[in-house]
Amino acid sequence: MRHFVTSHTLILVVTGFLSFNAVESRLGALRRADTSDMMNQMNQPINENDTSNNATGDVDTPEPDECTGKIYVGNAVDAPYLEKQSYVEILKQYFEYITPGNVMKWDATEKSQGVFSFDASDKIVKFAKDNGKKVRGHVGVWHNQVPQWLKDLDGPGLINATQNHIKTVLQYYKDDLYSFDVCNEVLGDDGNLRDSFWSQKLNDSFIEMAFQAAMDAGTNIKLYINDYSVEGPGKKSDAYYAIVKSLAEKKLLHGVGFQGHMIVGKLPSLEEMKANLKRFVDLGLEVAYSEVDVRVPLPASPKDLVQQAQDYATFVTACKETQGCKGVTVWGVGYPDSWVPSTFQGFGDALLFDDNYQPTQALTSFEQALKGNLTQESS
Ligand code: G3I
Repeated sequence: MRHFVTSHTLILVVTGFLSFNAVESRLGALRRADTSDMMNQMNQPINENDTSNNATGDVDTPEPDECTGKIYVGNAVDAPYLEKQSYVEILKQYFEYITPGNVMKWDATEKSQGVFSFDASDKIVKFAKDNGKKVRGHVGVWHNQVPQWLKDLDGPGLINATQNHIKTVLQYYKDDLYSFDVCNEVLGDDGNLRDSFWSQKLNDSFIEMAFQAAMDAGTNIKLYINDYSVEGPGKKSDAYYAIVKSLAEKKLLHGVGFQGHMIVGKLPSLEEMKANLKRFVDLGLEVAYSEVDVRVPLPASPKDLVQQAQDYATFVTACKETQGCKGVTVWGVGYPDSWVPSTFQGFGDALLFDDNYQPTQALTSFEQALKGNLTQESS
């Protein structure tokens, strides 16, 4: 991670806020309206006749003109950054939902089997509560950032540990989370079931087992599946659809996350993205872009930054124009807290705020799209 901010850059950030406030104040009313609508929706039980978390499918289906123009905006947050004033101010001002970027993962919450620690994730949840934000919980079953003891278990042991972990986390946060990513990235890049310790020990049965455990926890948290490279048409997206359809038919989930980690200019078309979201919504589920970033080759060219701004707007517009799409979460605030540079050599500048936590043209474009200024298909 790069160092966060110097006193010099802090002044620039504050200056950026001042000049941006004119735009922001106009957007504020729209955002607040959107948020209260979302809160109202979220406070409704999943099924009017049933206040436990045991249904999906035809319940919670949006009314005909419900969602257009009313999406939330979220961000991934890592607990250490909450010590940084400029980062916190951006979160407070711009984002309505937050996702713990790392501290709610298995290696953080259950480092030793049966010994749970929520200290770090509690900080994020408290920040959210104190500032009127909602929390998208992340993550239960994943092949990454898990403790070694979990990987070492045999099949039955893995089932027991998973049931216990998911139940414990969901019940601990039963009044705090909007949603929880029960399973993350179960598919490999080729669209087949990912080769992981989960699939090696349990084939594909771990997916249903984990969702059943989450449902059995009996909370009102919306249960999500989450994956990447599923934003448009294609083999992996179709495989994702098949898994989701099967879970939906068994009434085991409520929502589908499309991560949205993209390379600049490589998004599917707006129409493809909308059509893809819609087929999942048509299963009776809600959908969301859950981890959006748009990376560019470094040093970033002006042309790429214009395209990146367009790409961000495409995400927002696809969500706004798809009934049942609840929101767009961006994976990090400023360039220094992005996972991109350390993972994709030669790429970076993937977020809405720059190295000095000042707004980028991608943010302006994102805001314009939120206001309903439509994207134009780029060539
Ligand atoms: O916490 C340790 C710290 O103690 C140590 O000094 C430091 C040294 O490298 O590492 C720190 O851990 C890092 C952790 O982030 C917290 O910053 C890990 O090395 C690093 O690998 C980890 O990266 C995270 C990555 O998931 C791991 O797969 C990213 O921050 C996080 O943004 C990223 O998020 C994932 C989503 O959960 C799922 N979808 C993809 C997305 C991007 O990879």
